Amino acid sequence: GIGQVVVVGSLNVDHVWTAASLPHAGQTLSGEYTTSLGGKGFNQAVAARRAGAASTFICALGDDAGGQLARESAITDGIDLRAQRSLRPTGTAGIHVDREGRNCIVIGAGANADLSASFVDGQRAAIAAADILLAQLESPAETILAALRHARHAATTTLLNPAPADAVVDAELLAATDILTPNETEFSALLACHLGQRIHGDAIATLDPETLHGLCRGLLPAGSMIVTLGANGCFVSHASSQLHGDDHGYYRVAANQVDAIDTTGAGDAFNGALAASRAGRREAEFSTHVRFASRYAALSTESRGAAMSMPALQDVLDRFND
Ligand code: RIB
Ligand code: NA
Repeated sequence: GIGQVVVVGSLNVDHVWTAASLPHAGQTLSGEYTTSLGGKGFNQAVAARRAGAASTFICALGDDAGGQLARESAITDGIDLRAQRSLRPTGTAGIHVDREGRNCIVIGAGANADLSASFVDGQRAAIAAADILLAQLESPAETILAALRHARHAATTTLLNPAPADAVVDAELLAATDILTPNETEFSALLACHLGQRIHGDAIATLDPETLHGLCRGLLPAGSMIVTLGANGCFVSHASSQLHGDDHGYYRVAANQVDAIDTTGAGDAFNGALAASRAGRREAEFSTHVRFASRYAALSTESRGAAMSMPALQDVLDRFND
């Protein structure tokens, strides 16, 4: 049957400036401007839906044009929106994109900061009915923790994307997580915070697999980790209790060759697609879900924007047929 994904998290109105390079401190550049919907939560909910799952999105919206646009977009995409009303403006993000498709983002939380644990408590039934709960940290940590705990209580798998880079991921959040998906920078921050290890994000991809596996086990002893490494693909590490036969419990999944023009939301594409794949085919090998998520994310970088760049399932199947 169709997998059920519940996403708890942020929605932002993205303001995007594209220029030849990313601006340095004190620099003024000319470029082009566009606006569209984003926010890690919304991007992931759209990705989960377009990747083939039923998608419920729990968020907080302002009573403004951004909030209205979000409601209309959710209907267009077939997303079951559960929005808390906030007196603050809908969240915003200022995004700079360069010629190579790289980006820098600053977010203004706005309404996202109001998403409350009590609102999430009211969505317990939806969380319990889902196969997987997907969350990130552009919303208050105590709200995300409440959501993860409701999921745990109902045996719904918990997937935490520990983004953005400056989010504080405490031990309670880790303890409530079944699958954790940091990128290199987020992984580096987790290692410093929880294991007292100072390893720069740029050095993560160069570590040997046994070392990486050991670090992952230290962070999430009972769960699975996927460290996304950009052009170097990703590294997967499972708990020993999840292993079968002579499986070592860790492996790499290679990146896919694409012509990236905008990587904004690629991490969200990965997480949404991973959740959809895992929700729809629980019996499949975990690596199948990771490979699908990598392909889905790769294809999203060939289109501009965040939520609007999430590909349809059929486009992914057509592009990477094997
Ligand atoms: O991950 C990309 C997203 O980060 C953007 O859509 C922006 O809104 C920020 O949340
Ligand atoms: Na994109």
